[in-house]
Amino acid sequence: MNSKTFAVLSCCLLLFIWAECQKENPPKTPGKKVMKEPKARDINFPKVLDKKNKPGASMFPKTSSVKPTIISNRGQQSLSILTRSVAKGQFQKVPDILVLTAGETLDLRCKGKDVKWRYPPSLEDDDVERRLRIKNFEGHSQLIVVKSTTADTGEYSCWSFQCHDTECHVGKDRMGKTFIFFTDPQELFVPTEDYYEVIQLRTNQPTLLPCQVTNPLANVTLQREFPPDEIVVDGADISYDVKKGFTIHRPQPSHAGSVFCMANMDGVRQISTKYMLIYVNYPSSVPKPTISASVASFQIGEHFNVTCTVLGETEIIVDFTWEYPGQQMGRPPYVHEHTDLVQHGGQVQQKSESILYIDEARVVDDGLYTCIAENLQGSTRVSIHVHLIPAIQAPKKAKSA
Ligand SMILES: *[C@@H]1O[C@H](CO)[C@@H](O)[C@H](O)[C@H]1NC(C)=O
Ligand SMILES: *[C@@H]1O[C@H](CO)[C@@H](O)[C@H](O)[C@H]1NC(C)=O
Repeated sequence: MNSKTFAVLSCCLLLFIWAECQKENPPKTPGKKVMKEPKARDINFPKVLDKKNKPGASMFPKTSSVKPTIISNRGQQSLSILTRSVAKGQFQKVPDILVLTAGETLDLRCKGKDVKWRYPPSLEDDDVERRLRIKNFEGHSQLIVVKSTTADTGEYSCWSFQCHDTECHVGKDRMGKTFIFFTDPQELFVPTEDYYEVIQLRTNQPTLLPCQVTNPLANVTLQREFPPDEIVVDGADISYDVKKGFTIHRPQPSHAGSVFCMANMDGVRQISTKYMLIYVNYPSSVPKPTISASVASFQIGEHFNVTCTVLGETEIIVDFTWEYPGQQMGRPPYVHEHTDLVQHGGQVQQKSESILYIDEARVVDDGLYTCIAENLQGSTRVSIHVHLIPAIQAPKKAKSA
């Protein structure tokens, strides 16, 4: 290796290390101005809550939901920067789970500079009631929730930035997190707007039934509506988490139907939102189509066809779309689709096929034929060229002209 090559290689290595370092520090903000905006609230709450409780939540930019998720995984054990005021001038470290009574005032402190907070969606659109107050001081930030309600139940977290010049990132010990329950003996579940919620049960994908209790001590069961029956929660196929609700780990068609959570607490019994569970046969991957044409090249006036075939899991719907040369000229597509079960490698597979027919081919039919096969996981394109054989009748044409 000569010295020049070596220099180039070292340079590449340095660049690579530098790029990796950039990745390591995700919540990087170019200037301090940006961080001063109390925007922490647009950031990341469980998907379901976002969608259901706050219609406005979807307006928040998607990108902002990514950063804090990474952070929260990191600062797991370090609650030291988060404290709670329990009496005047008296502070306590905040435990993993905190149980307060609805109506109480919550007063949290987070040590550090440029502190950001994250809190439940109930406090996001708080412009009218102003129950949430955040005050930033030199060395800490204060979050106050007055007139708390059961809907304020959820995760509260804060993180602070370390800045060197214009680069800011979250230090490992600069994250605090707690889950706070606001109990009300008359309201065992965090209220939701919907009486019914439709939830898809996808093959091979855990499904969360987000019935959030307001008291971690409540006894919660999962119930089927028709026929009325308690669903066995064994911790393996279905598990319960007091901070989330029930998770169905391996959805089966038999799980489909209407279910709800039931909470029992000191003789009070209440039910949650009802969940309409719909089983969706979810493909394990995007389709892998193959394409073939009945001819490699054609002459004017001939018929030919192009076939797009997907072999895959059974009971998965595959949608086909075509792009072909005559499209812009308004050539009407003539497409036939069909699905069969076939034996393939000792297994029953589904063969989905779409055939594009070109009748009485013309000059405009010369070119690239593309098939787009799509299922719930995504789409795949495959293409093939079909060429026009230069016309042999050209002299004839010249004569008539
Ligand atoms: C929950 O159920 C258990 C057993 O059924 C019972 O002993 C306990 O008192 C119940 N807890 C509450 C808070 O109702
Ligand atoms: C496609 O075209 C070829 C040649 O014209 C023909 O033999 C074949 O039957 C056609 N395929 C279908 C599926 O119609």
